[in-house]
Amino acid sequence: MIKNKKLAKWVEETAAMTSPDHIYWCDGSKEEYDRLVKQMVDEGLATPLNQKQLPGCYLFRSDPSDVARIENRTYIASRSPDDAGPTNNWIDPRELKAVMKGLYRGCMKGRTLYVIPFSMGPIGSPISKIGVEITDSPYVVVNMHIMTRVGSTVLEALGEKGEFVPCLHSVGKPLEPGQNDNGVWPCAPIEKKYISHFPEERMIWSYGSGYGGNALLGKKCLALRIASVIAREEGWLAEHMLILGITDPEGQKKYIAGAFPSACGKTNLAMLIPTIPGWKVECVGDDIAWMKFRKDGRLYAINPEAGFFGVAPGTSMQSNPNAMNAICRNTIYTNVALTGDGDVWWEGIGYKAPGKLIDWTGKEWEDGKGAGPAAHPNARFTAPARQCRGIDPAWEDPAGVPISAFLFGGRRPSTIPLVHQSYTWNHGVFLGSIVGSEVTAAALDLAAGTVRRDPFAMLPFCGYHMGDYFKYWVDIGKKAPADKLPKIFYVNWFRKTADGKWLWPGYGENSRVLKWIFERCDNKGTAVETPIGYMPSVDAIDRTGLSGISDADMEELLAVDREGWLKEIGLIKEHYAKFGSRLPKELYDELAALEKRLS
Ligand code: OXD
Ligand code: MN
Repeated sequence: MIKNKKLAKWVEETAAMTSPDHIYWCDGSKEEYDRLVKQMVDEGLATPLNQKQLPGCYLFRSDPSDVARIENRTYIASRSPDDAGPTNNWIDPRELKAVMKGLYRGCMKGRTLYVIPFSMGPIGSPISKIGVEITDSPYVVVNMHIMTRVGSTVLEALGEKGEFVPCLHSVGKPLEPGQNDNGVWPCAPIEKKYISHFPEERMIWSYGSGYGGNALLGKKCLALRIASVIAREEGWLAEHMLILGITDPEGQKKYIAGAFPSACGKTNLAMLIPTIPGWKVECVGDDIAWMKFRKDGRLYAINPEAGFFGVAPGTSMQSNPNAMNAICRNTIYTNVALTGDGDVWWEGIGYKAPGKLIDWTGKEWEDGKGAGPAAHPNARFTAPARQCRGIDPAWEDPAGVPISAFLFGGRRPSTIPLVHQSYTWNHGVFLGSIVGSEVTAAALDLAAGTVRRDPFAMLPFCGYHMGDYFKYWVDIGKKAPADKLPKIFYVNWFRKTADGKWLWPGYGENSRVLKWIFERCDNKGTAVETPIGYMPSVDAIDRTGLSGISDADMEELLAVDREGWLKEIGLIKEHYAKFGSRLPKELYDELAALEKRLS
């Protein structure tokens, strides 16, 4: 018997609209997880991997039309288009609902409607939120088991009158009587896929895709797009940030949160193993941070997720040994390649493909035989966070962890130095607002060298007007004394020489930069004032035991490229112009001050 009347009514109404064969309330148990996985194996949708090497691991292959988040089918349906802003797709909510109701009518025929009560964040934390996802995909259920806290305890926490974010999802493929999926990933064609957010109603409707952020609605949809709206209303922050704990050789610990655009190595940084002796880094989260002020004036963060939904290609013992270890058991793989002995393989795993493989499309694949990649570039692993060796002891602390620093960064082969620190909070907000990554022509249909701006790494994830979002960040700086607020840094691991070689080794060596940041949080560490902010002097970055980086390299990594920055200012002006009158004056002031310091 469901005590929460609003929830019971919503499930009843949704079932009447979607006509499932069965309704099933998820309890979050291991028995439920195992049963659904077995069902998908029996239906040919999942392949058990070699259970000796990879116990509890399974492989799924999605439809080639359903392999990633689809930003051009993602909508912020606020009542007014001005509230969605120029960087979101907007449709009138009434129009969108009419179209989607037409699609939802009868869409679960032949399937089971699963009700997934889930908590984003530890149950009972003052920062956590409850959501309920209705889905017709057992793949979504098992992934939600890993990525969130699912089940009866959530219903208990919800009680009779508790609030929840309703998240409706369907793969959009009803079945005829007697028909089944026949081992084929169910989804709808691209023009019928919709990932819709109704911010005023705090509601999510997703149709037609079964993949990742389009379907696991707790992640990008709830924990970022809807949560960013709620956070602004309630005075907290929902950010696309990793959270790590860093401990110095004396045992002093600080927590750092960092925003980097997708595919800039957030998961690797969150799980980094330091190369400087005596230092330790531990992971609280690799993708999303929810932060609230406590009475002591400091911001405390939780990771609202319970698992990692990481990109497999490029993950190796060199780039991320902690992740490689965490994904050896109880892990769901999607769109990676399968080896002859039931192991997984992907490009950038660190060793050659062991003979013939089955690629992510289910076809035979052999290295050098001309076919595309064996694993889809956005192939994923879904793994429980508790399996990570480097998980922070406080990762589930309901109180959250106190944040000492924010990092911003992107892939910038030129101009942006290895690290610089903002002079003030507003200068830091300015740095967040100009985050960008350089793209190749192949990747994004833009001229090579073009910077794709992704302010605060939130461009695809902010549920309201980004100009208002910048203003909200300016206002956050007024909520606490400057010495309690996190200090703000811009890092760039991706500098290249004129002939295209990496200037900085990255990965575990990034701990050397984190050490300087750690010291700066205590107002220590040598810093020089430059036109762009505080910067380490060449010898302020600890290079003990680091070979191959000369003083000249450090000088290049830490130079202020005046010409490059003056060009950058022109680009920032173009970027800011998109936000019109909603771009806060404080950011124009920061831009003018930077221009003055440079000239
Ligand atoms: C992700 C992303 O999948 O940011 O985390 O795209
Ligand atoms: Mn992300």
